[in-house]
Amino acid sequence: MPFRRLNVTYAVLALLLVPRYASAQTPAPIRFLEKSKIFVLDAGSASYVFGVNEQNALQHIYWGGQVARDEDFAAARSFNEWASFDLGTTTTPQEYPGWGAGLYVEPSLKVTFPDGDRDLVLHYVEHRIDGNTLSVTLKDIARELFVQLRYTVYAKTGIIRREAVVENRTGKPLVVENAHSGALYVPRGDGYRLRYLSGRWAGEWQLNEEAVHPGLKVLESRRGSTSHQTNPWFALDRDGSSDPEHGSVWFGALGWSGSWRISVEETSHQQVRVTGGFNPFDFGYTLAPGEKLETPPFYAGYTDGGIGESSRILHRFERAEILPNGSGARSRPVLYNSWEATEFNVDEPGQKALAEKAASLGVERFVMDDGWFGQRNTDHAGLGDWYVNPNKFPNGLGPLIQRVHELGMDFGIWVEPEMVNPDSDLYRKHPDWAMHFDGRPRTEARNQLLLNLARDDVREYVFSWLDELVSKNDIAFLKWDYNRNFSEPGWPEVATDQQKKIWVKFTQNLYDILDRLRKKHPKLEIESCSGGGGRVDLGILRRVEQVWPSDNTEAFDRLTIQQGFTYAYTPHIMMAWVTDVPNFNGRSVPLAFRFLVAMQGSLAIGSNLNKWQQEDFALAKQMVAYYKSIRGTVQNGELYRLTPPADTNFKASQYLSADKSRSVVFAFLHSQQFGRALPALRLQGLDEKASYTVTVFDGKTRPRAAPLPAKLSGAYLMNHGVVLPLTGDYDATSIKLERIAD
Ligand code: GLA
Repeated sequence: MPFRRLNVTYAVLALLLVPRYASAQTPAPIRFLEKSKIFVLDAGSASYVFGVNEQNALQHIYWGGQVARDEDFAAARSFNEWASFDLGTTTTPQEYPGWGAGLYVEPSLKVTFPDGDRDLVLHYVEHRIDGNTLSVTLKDIARELFVQLRYTVYAKTGIIRREAVVENRTGKPLVVENAHSGALYVPRGDGYRLRYLSGRWAGEWQLNEEAVHPGLKVLESRRGSTSHQTNPWFALDRDGSSDPEHGSVWFGALGWSGSWRISVEETSHQQVRVTGGFNPFDFGYTLAPGEKLETPPFYAGYTDGGIGESSRILHRFERAEILPNGSGARSRPVLYNSWEATEFNVDEPGQKALAEKAASLGVERFVMDDGWFGQRNTDHAGLGDWYVNPNKFPNGLGPLIQRVHELGMDFGIWVEPEMVNPDSDLYRKHPDWAMHFDGRPRTEARNQLLLNLARDDVREYVFSWLDELVSKNDIAFLKWDYNRNFSEPGWPEVATDQQKKIWVKFTQNLYDILDRLRKKHPKLEIESCSGGGGRVDLGILRRVEQVWPSDNTEAFDRLTIQQGFTYAYTPHIMMAWVTDVPNFNGRSVPLAFRFLVAMQGSLAIGSNLNKWQQEDFALAKQMVAYYKSIRGTVQNGELYRLTPPADTNFKASQYLSADKSRSVVFAFLHSQQFGRALPALRLQGLDEKASYTVTVFDGKTRPRAAPLPAKLSGAYLMNHGVVLPLTGDYDATSIKLERIAD
């Protein structure tokens, strides 16, 4: 029967032609289509596509939700000259444009050759696919300047990582003036909105939202480190919606702890493009013949699940792929830190007394902060002299550490390795080790100078005292501080054309010290602190387990700081101390409020326990025990921000375990007015068919007037929501939900 035969033939044909993704086998995450010369990268629910165009240049094609059929993409064709003022060089979305041939948008790479030639046009040479990595080699059309573009696809979490390696094979030195990791393009058109994080000391992590217009918006640090000023993260969306859980979002972050730059640009042809990498300000990196320069990794992701899901993708990615030693899958211990209690006045009996009190609360890690070394009695002296102060600790650190262990805690200590006080033995011996320009004043900040860590002898000195400190003492944890930025970034000891390498070498040597220290002491954990949140980025996070988001520990300010932080970084690493009142802004909020704020990250206590009353200890014990019961959900769960960033009067967040069986909600009211009740708070992500037990925990001794029911369905919690009984000023509560087994 012809009809039937036709069917069979179609079936066979279909089997032969079925694209790979329709088969049971998952397609390779990176594919090259020979015919159209297109690369397709699949990461999570996103596709990233670019190709080799007819001019042999790399051209962006698509970045967005997955497009299942590779063959739907047409080969890359460079754009026409729009006018004699806008050539195809500028209008074509080049994947990694060199500055040359009439390029007026941000270049990815700009160089000066020794003969003064500054033209750079990069063409495709070859590529190599290796599982989830792709490397594409480009070369200048005339000179032996090569660039290797690397792409890594993290299929599970949905992130793509890009970096470039610039190699000089010209036989003569050349100067790299601008090196980015790559250019990213969102679908052409206007109407985009940019989100980014800015701030200053004690006021980090402020979320900014603004419309993208034609022109260039520069997010950057020129300070030699990541900075409080702007964090290397961005997110773009197009629908302008205030719904955090829906809509397309393109986002990215740099993994670099030195000066960096992210440029968000809308061209006059309605193409929004983002370049990220080293900050070109005062750059000038001389590449000797045969030398290579690797740019920082630039991580990028896409979701149609709104800004909320973009954060959760980053959180999962950081926990699974960035944090060292798989620490993202473990729990952070409850920590006590002595700084706000004693400042520089540390000594053996005082620290022991604090340790005993901290242990009684259920603290698991005791950290002695600044003041234990050299002649460090104020911030005027001692940095650089990393011997234990014999007056404060006549028998070394041993007896304190032993007592801390007896109390069932491990021991951590504060260090600030990159710094020196002019009033120190180290500076008196090696004044040339401090960053400076010969014959010019050295600007002090907090009475300290930066060591020039770019020097290998300084790097070795720093590594050796840290190694000795950790080898001789049972130290589980370092709080690694960095309390100022670069000034006078001179390096007079090397040839003039090498001096600007300080911008890169400093950070590379910092990473080298951390990497070697971790390798030699695999159990050691580290916190990145820089006068609060001045050094938080995906580069340092590959080397530390946690970070200090801000020196501002005032609980109400912290709500904004913490919410901002989580746009880019997981609550897992976000250290949050409960401290004393009155605090910043002269504000005093109740202890329970302070605890509930701090529980939204990795809980710690930084109060002066010597001043606490019995009732404070009793409440704190309960709070720590409660935190331990929800810690896994908070630290390793999925975060939903339930209130908009602009609402500072009422803030709520929800954490949900990956299997949806456990959830915890935190809610905070700043001040009630006119007796108004809060609207029902609708929860997210729960199993709608399941029922959950509802346990309210707020540290109050008397029950609330309108208690919540003990059991509610997921559907009710998400559709109707919970009516929170918050009243008055600085009221806070937490609700624990546990799925009831069928
Ligand atoms: C910085 C840190 C503080 C504390 C002090 C010590 O400011 O952020 O937490 O460690 O240094 O000097």
